[in-house]
Amino acid sequence: MADARPFHWEYHPETPRPETFRIEGGRPLRGTVNVSGAKNAALKLLAAAVLTGERCRLENVPEIEDVRVMAEVLRDLGVVVDHPETGVYEIAAGDVDWLFIPLEAAAKMRASFILLGPLLTRFGRVIISNPGGDRIGRRPVNLHVDAMRAMGAEIEYRNGYYYAQAPGRLRGGEIRFPQVTVMGTENAMLAATLADGHTVIRPAAQEPEVDDLAAFLCEMGADVERTYPDTIEVHGTRRLRGATHRVLPDRIETGTFLISAAVTGGTMRLENAACKHVGALVEVFEKVGIPVHCADTTIDIDASGLTPADLRACDIETAPYPGLATDLQSPTCVLLTQASGTSRVHEGVFEDRIEWLGELRKLGARIDIEDTHHAAIHGPSQLRGAEVSISDLRAGASLILAALAAQGPSLIHGAHHVERGYENIDRKFQQLGASIARSADTA
Ligand code: EPU
Repeated sequence: MADARPFHWEYHPETPRPETFRIEGGRPLRGTVNVSGAKNAALKLLAAAVLTGERCRLENVPEIEDVRVMAEVLRDLGVVVDHPETGVYEIAAGDVDWLFIPLEAAAKMRASFILLGPLLTRFGRVIISNPGGDRIGRRPVNLHVDAMRAMGAEIEYRNGYYYAQAPGRLRGGEIRFPQVTVMGTENAMLAATLADGHTVIRPAAQEPEVDDLAAFLCEMGADVERTYPDTIEVHGTRRLRGATHRVLPDRIETGTFLISAAVTGGTMRLENAACKHVGALVEVFEKVGIPVHCADTTIDIDASGLTPADLRACDIETAPYPGLATDLQSPTCVLLTQASGTSRVHEGVFEDRIEWLGELRKLGARIDIEDTHHAAIHGPSQLRGAEVSISDLRAGASLILAALAAQGPSLIHGAHHVERGYENIDRKFQQLGASIARSADTA
């Protein structure tokens, strides 16, 4: 069965929306915003549900394009994916018709590669396309493939596809990654749940989304434990059961809204947020001089009355968790355009994730891009509205932040990139008093 079939996978958004954001900046954002469930947890939780034939229920799932694409990829395999109400997905992977993830699906979303581990460990084989995703560096998948091979999988790469099979069950073992990898850790963990024996993953990524996935797997009956901060151990089991799980809050969306308040001189309360997951960003706020108050599930920020003269430059470096998330590099750079002095930026995770700063310069930011990993931001700059283009998800959200802070109108093309990972971003900003609308892709 697991052979490439004559097949053309297509995905069309149910209601395509106009591709351009029109923003009239310069208004302080005020009010309360609800943080959605985390994209980078929800996608893996959906994939984890194929480890059992029983029904799983996921709550607080963000209504974003990447989730819709993942649901479609699963449905195409023959998995039942129901969406009974907003934020709720129910998955039943009793019968799986195909063990094939086509290029069209993989090119839409890199996270499709997370299906390698669960399909291989449960069904013993899968053909999966080399993934696409954001253009932020080379982003290979060699570490995922090496981890599966370390567990006894035989994997060949031909014509853009990985042909993977596991004679018998996968075998638990020692998986030593040469560097920290989030999805590599998750793929190994998912595969190990149904493998024969004991698996040790080191260094295991420490991102909260990895622990959310581990919690779901335990609810499904798996034996997964973080035994040291950088070590995850899994004792394989024969069968997993259905479970219900609530997705944790999105810490990148949290950071994006906090920064939107900061750069517009606003005041905001974030609800259903997890402050403990944005510790590195809160430290940046402290250094820059913007007060942030954390409670159990809310975060308050008050930047009203602050002028750029009150904000201090701050050097940042992105790193695996608990360091400052690479996904928060771009919004944080917008913040630093408003601080007095020179801030040095070191993108420590992905190459080429600095490039988007060229677009930010079009709004009047003074930035030297030094190489693929380093930049210097000279602040403060009075940003001015401009016409810019989005190249990837986080850069897109950050251009919106810059346009909200800028004087005058902006046109930001490429809204679909942002829709991949932010739930109703334009509506959420409107509710906070922003002038932001979607329009067709013309000036
Ligand atoms: N890497 C390899 N080989 C591999 C895997 C990774 O060389 O097989 C390298 C990468 O090129 C990178 C580093 O390892 O330099 C770390 O990449 P990692 O594997 O940790 O990234 P990822 O798992 O592919 C996830 C998130 C990204 C987020 C990164 C880092 C998902 C679906 N994606 O990617 O999120 O930036 O971790 O935190 O979980 C986003 O949401 O916008 C996004 C890009």
